[in-house]
Amino acid sequence: MDMAEPIVSLLNPEFEDDPIGAFARLREKSPLVRIGFPGGPPVWLITRSEEFKAAWSDPRLVTNISNVPGHRGPSIADQALTSLDVPGELLRYFTSNLMLQDGSNHTRLRRLVAPAFSVRRIKALRPRIEEVSARLIGALAQKGSGDLLKDYATPLTGAVICDLVGIDEADQAQIRRWMDEYANVDRDFATSALGLFEYTRKLIERRRAEPADDMISALVQTVGDDGDRLSEDEIVSMVGVLVNGGYHSTAHFIPNAAITLLDNPDQLALLRARPEALPHAINELMRIANPIPSAGPRYAAEDMELAGVSICKGDAVTGSLQSVNYDPRVFSEPERCNVERVLKRGEGHLAFGAGPHRCIGAALAELEGAVAIDHLFIQRDTLELAVKSSELRYRELIPGGARLFSAFPVRF
Ligand code: HEM
Repeated sequence: MDMAEPIVSLLNPEFEDDPIGAFARLREKSPLVRIGFPGGPPVWLITRSEEFKAAWSDPRLVTNISNVPGHRGPSIADQALTSLDVPGELLRYFTSNLMLQDGSNHTRLRRLVAPAFSVRRIKALRPRIEEVSARLIGALAQKGSGDLLKDYATPLTGAVICDLVGIDEADQAQIRRWMDEYANVDRDFATSALGLFEYTRKLIERRRAEPADDMISALVQTVGDDGDRLSEDEIVSMVGVLVNGGYHSTAHFIPNAAITLLDNPDQLALLRARPEALPHAINELMRIANPIPSAGPRYAAEDMELAGVSICKGDAVTGSLQSVNYDPRVFSEPERCNVERVLKRGEGHLAFGAGPHRCIGAALAELEGAVAIDHLFIQRDTLELAVKSSELRYRELIPGGARLFSAFPVRF
């Protein structure tokens, strides 16, 4: 790593006070900057769209540190698992999931799980998503007020991911409790992960004996062209990564999209007048209101040039999704919300990442988002924020622009 590069701290108050402006200044300075976190080595951060797409498709940047020849020391994920006291026998579930595989190991897992995310399967979920959404909004409207996150978005996305995986309705409340603890990454992390993994094991046994029309049954039965199958450990790990990846991200997207529309009443009026713009609106809201701050980390498998900068074998790289999604080289007037923005092919937003690890649940997240915006704002026009938007509080401010509201009080 070139030690002459200055290290930027995302803990600097400017990233909290005005993340969009702070990232714009950083992005104009360089497509690749060094950032530092307390207690860890510096990490490269990509700030521009083209450079991010190229890097995330470059096989020399790997997600699994053991694919860096001669690497020493733990990865960022290993350090996090150690700090969470995850028992040794559980580690394999975390380290064998598809997010941490490269090359043919990744392609293999991705191919085996892809049929569960086919257009047909995702489309088939619409009636159930609409039913759950309508029920939750009905209950909220009857009360007159509530928390959009707790009373609507979280139970909606929790039910959808549990349904997709094949978790019985009677068990979904327990699964959601584990997923909440798991996502809070607190001291209950290991216990809740263990609960989820053991539950999945038993479910696999049940579905082996009696298959149903769900993802676990499909994963149990899936056989690749060459006779390849997922092992039981791989299915457990896959379910863990899917529920973890699919639940909170989409839940937090809903209030983030809601505040963006409420803050842009002209755009909300436009969407109500032309609901056929909803797919464009969802893309625009994903660009602006994405709750996930960054992708990665990746590691350089060799000394290489990245975005015109020499980086060293073993260096860690991440990409600021907020920064790349506001890159004026791709998006004209990036700070403006334009629900009719039409993006040219290949110039879409990068909220779902890029390259081989691009979000496998993107179509599902878009569908859930579209149903939510339709039900909350197009079919109704009485939903409003119950506090001033300046009073909304973030659950935690993860450096780099994560926007996870702790609550989102609304009234009808
Ligand atoms: C608004 C909602 C969502 C956002 C913003 C989002 C964002 C992302 C991003 C940025 C990545 C790539 C990370 C990287 O390259 O390091 C990713 C990967 C992934 N996402 Fe999502 N996601 C969302 C919803 C979902 C849903 C609904 C599911 C599952 C049902 C899901 C499952 C996954 C999985 C399994 C991966 C890893 C794919 C791989 O490594 O091949 N996500 N997501």
